[in-house]
Amino acid sequence: MADEPGQPPALTTLSLAEQAPSSHAAEQRITPFDVSGGVDETGKLLPVDYNKLIQQFGATPISPTLLERFEKVTGKKPHRFLRRGIVFSHRDLEKILDRHEKGQPFYLYTGRGPSSGSLHVGHAIPFEFTKWLQDVFDVPLIIMLTDDEKYMHTPKLEISDSKRFTIENAKDIIGIGFDPAKTFIFSDFDYVSGAFYENICRMAKRITINSVRATFGFNDSNNVGEFHFCATQSATSFATSFPHIFGSDPLKTRSIPCLIPCAIDQDPYFRQCREHAEKMKYKKPSLIHSIFLPALQGPGSKMSASIDISAIFLTDTPNQIKNKINKYAFSGGQDTAEKQRELGGRTKDDVAFQYLTFFLEDDNELEQIRHAYEKGEMLTGELKGICIKYLQEYVAGFQERRKKVTEEMRREFMAVRGLTWGGNPNPVPT
Ligand code: TRP
Repeated sequence: MADEPGQPPALTTLSLAEQAPSSHAAEQRITPFDVSGGVDETGKLLPVDYNKLIQQFGATPISPTLLERFEKVTGKKPHRFLRRGIVFSHRDLEKILDRHEKGQPFYLYTGRGPSSGSLHVGHAIPFEFTKWLQDVFDVPLIIMLTDDEKYMHTPKLEISDSKRFTIENAKDIIGIGFDPAKTFIFSDFDYVSGAFYENICRMAKRITINSVRATFGFNDSNNVGEFHFCATQSATSFATSFPHIFGSDPLKTRSIPCLIPCAIDQDPYFRQCREHAEKMKYKKPSLIHSIFLPALQGPGSKMSASIDISAIFLTDTPNQIKNKINKYAFSGGQDTAEKQRELGGRTKDDVAFQYLTFFLEDDNELEQIRHAYEKGEMLTGELKGICIKYLQEYVAGFQERRKKVTEEMRREFMAVRGLTWGGNPNPVPT
């Protein structure tokens, strides 16, 4: 059964607290460009309320019944992210399960905006989950690297930097372990043309300035590229954008839908996409949403690729991981060992415990730790020690795979080519 979704705090914009006079509360605000849980009357930053968020967005919580159906259809025990409410909400996931059951085609689509050269473990979460889905469903996966989006949205970023990040990030993503026969990674700067560009324009023609303002919170000061990009991210949801994978007869390929695993902040793009898809004679994309990995500083703090002590990076050494967790991981424990033994710790606020919910596979072990910590049988130092061990293990595993990723492999993943999946050596329709 899924846990309460989203106890972990999210990426939170500190600037919001600065803007808000401490006597006024501010609502939470989640868009692809602004993730903040809001501020209470005393000026304290609040963690994201994920239940409220999916209500606002009109998405559906992943129910235990849906998880049972997932297991029945795929024959696989749901991933720990699903079991623990880390992947917690969806749109039309049943439709994808129905197709899988009937052997009808669909594909997976996810992406990343390459805003820096180095990824932290939070970035790896949606990709880890996507890899698992690729293994479970045995379908093509398309990974979009939105170097154009980052260029438009980042004042000082040059195109050359953005393209460099794309190449670096692609190698890290490959290091997660995707299957090259079934995976196409592309950069917008390279791939926007032909059938894909036609879909971008079809979408752009339907998206009004009004709707972008309302959906993304843009105003007259946003540049036209930012407005236009909303169509670009949507157009990857349509199989006709990829004739080299799905064939070039749109009558055959336009009915192939996709499933998009993403963090919940990306939902606004796809809400807009779903609004127009059927008018374009395409299928609406299905979605499956994850919460954010909390920053080391805990509730109300911001996890940032540019603030070293806020995150564990995929390049961190075992020692760096140990020091960061010991020094900075926000603790839900009591001030003294005596008090901890008497009162126990708060796992919901404890960053080390939250990280374990993401990275520790064994449900029984996690439950034992939760119990021991909450009852005061386990002290903060011990909990942190366990967290350090599992994070070191995860990062070392990644680094092993990442070492083996060559420039040649990256070119292969990013080459415009046919893919093979489903046990069929050449399923690309001609
Ligand atoms: N806009 C996303 C980002 O900035 C990148 C992205 C593009 C994406 N398409 C996606 C993320 C689909 C998840 C799913 O990171």
